[in-house]
Amino acid sequence: MAVLRFLTAGESHGPCLIAIVEGLPAGLDIDLEAINRDLARRQGGYGRGGRMRIEQDRVEILGGVISGRTIGAPVALRIENRDWPNWRDHWAAGDLPKLTVPRPGHADYAGMLKYGLDDARPILERASARETAARVAVGALAKLLLSSFGILIGSYVVEIGGVVAAIPELPVQELWALAEASDVRCPDAEAAVRMRAAIDQARQAGDSLGGIFVVTALGVPVGLGSHVHWDRRLDARLAAAFVSIPAVKGVEIGPAFDNARLPGTRVHDEFVWTGTHVSRLSNRAGGIEGGISNGQPIEVRAAMKPIPTTLTPLRSVDLATGMDAATTYQRSDVCAVPAAAVVGEAMMAWVLAEALLEKYGGDSLSDMERNFGGAEQ
Ligand SMILES: Cc1cc2nc3c(=O)[nH]c(=O)nc-3n(C[C@H](O)[C@H](O)[C@H](O)COP(=O)(O)O)c2cc1C
Repeated sequence: MAVLRFLTAGESHGPCLIAIVEGLPAGLDIDLEAINRDLARRQGGYGRGGRMRIEQDRVEILGGVISGRTIGAPVALRIENRDWPNWRDHWAAGDLPKLTVPRPGHADYAGMLKYGLDDARPILERASARETAARVAVGALAKLLLSSFGILIGSYVVEIGGVVAAIPELPVQELWALAEASDVRCPDAEAAVRMRAAIDQARQAGDSLGGIFVVTALGVPVGLGSHVHWDRRLDARLAAAFVSIPAVKGVEIGPAFDNARLPGTRVHDEFVWTGTHVSRLSNRAGGIEGGISNGQPIEVRAAMKPIPTTLTPLRSVDLATGMDAATTYQRSDVCAVPAAAVVGEAMMAWVLAEALLEKYGGDSLSDMERNFGGAEQ
């Protein structure tokens, strides 16, 4: 059984989202505002749709925390959907028209066939990325655990709609600070202007955009994950976690695709002895070798496809009639790459928290601190 687990429940236009987190040690201080800050960060970003103006996510803790500290019991979280009053009566009456024209790029078609439905609504309600609000809250709990051990996670955007940023040669925490001040989460201010223009242009054209973001973890000790089995490899677990984010279709550990174009002598991170410890001349492996964290920053790059709901209709088929039909538009984001980066931070935090607990786990934070005592940095 996994040492750390979470489940979420809830639909996009239902009353709320719920998460249950099992396996957090007792004695962890829970900073509600840190969770709410991450929820607000997920809601931001240039290119979001009208829904984000309705929702102002706040988390409620319903179990597992007493007087601001975990007690070792499952932690239950709830995030209200402020849009719910607009839907409640329709859900009760069952009077919403059926959605019978599946939208390309969504779960609609495969979901309707899989669950034997003549309406895509139950599929899109749960497939919606609204669920990622619950993941961000769960990830914020994982970040609180990681930060007790000096592990920090942040993100920035490197590409939107084909506009490529020139990332300045700065310490990653400075890149995070620049990203935080940018509504496209991009540390290159000049590229950010072009990204915004590309989003405006896509909006005017009734289109949508995707992009690429980078999530980094600092202070990760050597030895998380393992080479001994495929499903214990940290790189494999991170890749699965990132691809589980709706619309994320590609993942790199470090600059993997660039590395694939270079000879080995220009890729592998050489060791040097500093006089006191072993150091590296580069980090092109993205902090993981043989499925094990190697003490360098862990870097994951993720590619997000363009948002599949477009104001310009896409060709489809009405499954009720078998006739050609065009997709209809529902309020939607034009670009959500900055928000997806925040979800990426949550998934990185979750995988690292799980791996940290496997190696240094205990029932309480002080058990973990004792086990962590001699960790190799
Ligand atoms: C933060 C975030 C926000 C998203 N917002 C939208 C949206 O407003 N409209 C939309 O059609 N898709 C949106 N998506 C993407 C869809 O949820 C996703 O593409 C769809 O459910 C199909 O899943 P798949 O792309 O993983 O195959 C968003 C994704 C994320 C991560």
